[in-house]
Amino acid sequence: MKYFLIGFMGAGKTTLGQRVASFMNISFFDLDIYIENKYKQTISDIFESKGSEYFRQIEHMSLKEIISNYDNFLLSTGGGTPCFYNNLDLMLSVGKVVYLKTKPSEIYKRITANPEKRPFLKNVPPNEWYNWIEKTMKEREFYYSKAHIIIDSSFVSVEKIAYYLTL
Ligand code: S3P
Repeated sequence: MKYFLIGFMGAGKTTLGQRVASFMNISFFDLDIYIENKYKQTISDIFESKGSEYFRQIEHMSLKEIISNYDNFLLSTGGGTPCFYNNLDLMLSVGKVVYLKTKPSEIYKRITANPEKRPFLKNVPPNEWYNWIEKTMKEREFYYSKAHIIIDSSFVSVEKIAYYLTL
């Protein structure tokens, strides 16, 4: 089975995904890390040097690559992955998609602790970060909410996610 974790940046997709995959004894991929290894550049550098259009193209190609080359895995996607090209439909059609839903206030706490890792925040003044998170999350909710399974990330455990995945 192919499992996909989607959700806003800072939702905990990478940390939880890794732990759930190891609990379920399946392979783990993180789309951002896959891209960084493949293109030998950090996500922030890719955004800065080649722009977001280019990033979305290589993100789409990398997603397709993982889907066609592997089976039995859990993939943590980037926050924007389900919102570009046909990425969401693709994931929905080949596997099980789980949305880790997180409140804007929680996201704000987490991502402002480490803002340099978030290319988007570079274009937004710090006093507008909270509003930006709320607005962007509302826009993306349209995609995220189409997941097969929606889990509130504040009440979640590795075992619970693994349980939901196997339903
Ligand atoms: C993005 C989220 C990031 C990364 C890129 C774009 C987004 O992933 O893919 O910076 O559009 O929200 P994380 O959600 O893992 O931070």
